[in-house]
Amino acid sequence: MSVDVVTMDKIVSLCKRRGFIFPSSEIYGGLGSSYDYGHYGVLLKNNVKAQWWRAMLQERDDVVALDSAIIQHPRTWEASGHLAGFTDPLIDCRTCKQRFRADALEDERCGRKPSKRPGETPECDLTEARNFNLMFQTTIGPVQEEGSIVYLRPETAQGIFLNFKHYLQFSRKKPPFGIAQIGKSFRNEITPGNFIFRTREFEQMEMEFFVPPAEAERWFGHWLEQRMNWYTELGIRPDHLRLRAHEPDELSHYSSATSDIEYLYPIDWRELEGIANRGDFDLTQHAKFSGQKLEYVDTVTGERYVPHVIEPAAGADRATLAFLADAYDEDEIEGETRTVLRLHPLLAPVKVAVLPLVRKDGQPELATEVYRDLRHRVQAEYDEGGAIGRRYRRQDEIGTPWAVTIDHQSLEDRTVTLRDRDSLTQERVAIGALGEEIERRLRTPWRSPKID
Ligand code: GAP
Repeated sequence: MSVDVVTMDKIVSLCKRRGFIFPSSEIYGGLGSSYDYGHYGVLLKNNVKAQWWRAMLQERDDVVALDSAIIQHPRTWEASGHLAGFTDPLIDCRTCKQRFRADALEDERCGRKPSKRPGETPECDLTEARNFNLMFQTTIGPVQEEGSIVYLRPETAQGIFLNFKHYLQFSRKKPPFGIAQIGKSFRNEITPGNFIFRTREFEQMEMEFFVPPAEAERWFGHWLEQRMNWYTELGIRPDHLRLRAHEPDELSHYSSATSDIEYLYPIDWRELEGIANRGDFDLTQHAKFSGQKLEYVDTVTGERYVPHVIEPAAGADRATLAFLADAYDEDEIEGETRTVLRLHPLLAPVKVAVLPLVRKDGQPELATEVYRDLRHRVQAEYDEGGAIGRRYRRQDEIGTPWAVTIDHQSLEDRTVTLRDRDSLTQERVAIGALGEEIERRLRTPWRSPKID
C-alpha cells in the first residue's frame, strides 16, 4: 500500500488556508460540526456531483432525475419507519451533563480534563440508555399546533418513492429503471465529527433503481461494481477502497442486503457509500399509508408487481473528503516541501491557471487575452501577483492540473509554456492550440501518481 503523508489536521488546515471549507458561523464562535464551503470547495463539490450525474444519468438510458422537497408530508416518515426507528441509543451523565451513544461508549470521551471514558470514574453517574430520534423537527405555518409538526428529511430516498407513480406515467419507463437525486439531508447526529465526515446537515447523492423482484440480486451486484468503478475511475487508489457486506444484525429495517463501500480515511476505514437491496419495503409501506397503488402493471401482458429497489446511496461531502484525502501529497522541489492536491483533472476546482511571468512588457495583456479565451472552455484562473514559484505553489495546493505561463518568448512567437502539476514538465504550446490541448488532456484517462 502506498505510504500516505496525509492527516485529517493537514486537510482541515489546507481547506481553511486555501478557501475550500470553513467552520460555519465562526464570528459567533462556530457551531459544532457545521461547515461552509468556500469558492474552491464549491467548485470541487460541484465537480463531484457533476461526475455523479454523468455516470448515473448522462451515460445511461435507464435513470431519470428528480429534485424533491426537503419537507415532505409527515406521514412519509411514519410509513418509512423513520419516526419509530431512526434512533440512536443515548446515555446521559448526570455529573458532567454530556450525552453519549450507548452503542459506542468505548470510543466516547467525556468533557472532563483530562478526558475520561464515560463510566470510568466513581463520579460518573450514567443514566439507562434511551432512544433518541435523529430527525430534526419543526412546524409548518405560523402557529405551533397539533398537526403542524414536520421533519427535515433525513435521507433523499423517500422523495423518490413518493414520486414513483409520476415517473411511471410521464417518463414511460418500466422496471428496470432508476430515479436519481442529489440534495441536502439532515440528521441530529449525537456524535458528529471528523471534519465533514459526519455533520448534521449534508448532501446525499442517491438513486433508487426499481427492478422486477426476480432480478434484484443481479442488479445489486451490478450497482456494487458500477459504484466501485466510479471512485477508481476518478482517481481513488484501489488499495484505499473496499467493499464490506453488513452483518445481519447491522442491516437497516428496510434492507435484506447492504454492502458499504469503505475508504481508508486518515482516521481509519469508514463508510463512504452504502448500496442496499431495499426489497419492496418502501413502495409497499407508502401504498399502505397513502391508500394509493404503487405497482407496475404491464399493459400488454397484464402482469403486475411491486418492484424491488436497489439503492446506491452516497454522500457528496464524504466523497469530497475522500477525494481530498486521496489527492493530498507532499514532495520536495528545490529543497522546499511542496503541498499538492493530486486531484483527478475532472474534479479539480480550477483546470488551468494563466500566469504572466512578469507584470510588465505586455505580458499581462497577452495573458489576459489567453485567459479570456480559455475561460469559455474550462474553469480558469488568472494570477499576476508575486513570484512565479509562489503562484505555482498556490495552484498546486488547490489542485490545478495545468498552468500556462506567458513569458518574453510568448510575445515574439505566440507560444506559451504548459506546466503539468504532477510531472512538473513544461511544454511549449502555440496559443492557438492551447484550448484544444487542455480539452484533450481533460478527456484523457488519468491515474493518480500516488499509485506508482
Ligand atoms: N437512503 C439510505 C441512506 O440514507 P445512509 O447509509 O444512512 O443510507 C448514505 O446514508 C450516505 O450518506 C452515507 O454513506 C454517507 O456517505 C452519507 N451520510 C450519512 N450520514 C451522514 C452524515 N451525518 N454526514 C455526512 N454524510 C452522511
